[in-house]
Amino acid sequence: MNVEDIKKVAVIGSGAMGHGIAQVCIMAGCNVVMTDVKQEFLDNGVAKIRESLDFLVGKEKITADDRDNMLNNLLSTSLDLKDAVKDAQLVIEAVPEVMDLKKQVFADVSSAAPKDALLASNTSTMSITEIATAVDNPERFLGMHFFNPVNRMKLVEVIYGQKTSDENVNLLFEFSEKLKKIPVKVLKDSPGFIVNRIGAPNQALISAILDEGKIKPDEIDAVMKQMGMPMGPFELADYVGIDVFYHTLKYYSETLSKDYTPGKTLQAMMDRGDLGMKTGKGIYVWENGKAQIDTSKQSTEITPMEFLAIQVNEAVRVYKEGIAESVEDIDKGMVHGMRAFAGPFALAAGTDPKQLTDTLNKLHERYGLDIFKPEPEIQDGSFKTMGK
Ligand SMILES: NC(=O)c1ccc[n+]([C@@H]2O[C@H](COP(=O)([O-])OP(=O)(O)OC[C@H]3O[C@@H](n4cnc5c(N)ncnc54)[C@H](O)[C@@H]3O)[C@@H](O)[C@H]2O)c1
Repeated sequence: MNVEDIKKVAVIGSGAMGHGIAQVCIMAGCNVVMTDVKQEFLDNGVAKIRESLDFLVGKEKITADDRDNMLNNLLSTSLDLKDAVKDAQLVIEAVPEVMDLKKQVFADVSSAAPKDALLASNTSTMSITEIATAVDNPERFLGMHFFNPVNRMKLVEVIYGQKTSDENVNLLFEFSEKLKKIPVKVLKDSPGFIVNRIGAPNQALISAILDEGKIKPDEIDAVMKQMGMPMGPFELADYVGIDVFYHTLKYYSETLSKDYTPGKTLQAMMDRGDLGMKTGKGIYVWENGKAQIDTSKQSTEITPMEFLAIQVNEAVRVYKEGIAESVEDIDKGMVHGMRAFAGPFALAAGTDPKQLTDTLNKLHERYGLDIFKPEPEIQDGSFKTMGK
């Protein structure tokens, strides 16, 4: 199959990610059928796509005719999963992050979709290899990890499962480019893939700072905002949802290292149901969609240097473990998946290795977490020439 043969895409699940994926596919001229378990969910997904296309018409990025053509001729919905996938060349799944549910969905897809259709999961954490056990021919199964919101974030991680063929990875890579996305290949099916994995130790640091209780989150977020970041790390945790944050850490604690075990403060917030923006209270109190942050004082102990050191240290591990093809892909991933100014390798290129090493050693001592220990390539500065 060639990229131009992908004419019909079935998107399973019409929630936050599914409707965005359907939108970028119709905008690339594909026929899309979106499926879900209730008509109201589908109607809601279509309404969101319409809203987004209306916005683009208003901005004169597309014409009203383009919008009408996409909505009336390219997009359709169905409550019947098997019927939806029966003539699709590509199936993209975006149902909730529950392994048994994903396997059940793909068992049904596998029996109903054409035998050579590409089957992709948008999972943000789960093993592609394990989900692939639910389908007949796993060489056509792969991860296609979009970032939220799909219509604005450029990155797509195209992920190999153990049995995925090179040919199919290349095909989905090309298709992602057709969607006007920036794809990077993830060569190894490993927790967090590239981008979320590099952010993982920062999540552990946030949990450790909350448990230590010595530095107010406001003071750290104030420094980050001062640097021009749209949100500080604590505000972001509330925005994403303390439940999502907690479950991701728990998953990393089971798959990567015990150091990721969510701390007692996060656990208490979970028990109280203080889940961040969506419940009006988490690390911060939220009013009218805004976190109430006191930015009058800035932390001098935890600064952007700590977060950078942790990130570049983890990026070195991602490269050494063979998860990413190149350091350039890692930087590209962080820029287009996380809206970073630059990737960790580029950001740390001008930094003294001793400063990075000292920063990491101090964090390791202060919080007792081995994941903060500096890698040898950080200590001797050779991370600056990795892959060259
Ligand atoms: N939200 C994010 O920021 C984000 C980012 C990247 C990846 N992801 C991943 O994308 C996937 C979907 O996440 P989301 O945030 O869109 O979830 P969501 O809860 O917003 O949407 C999931 C949708 O799937 C539907 N669904 C449930 N069971 C189904 C079934 N058997 N068949 C068809 N539809 C079914 C639900 O009704 C719901 O509409 C998850 O794997 C998640 O980890 C999410």
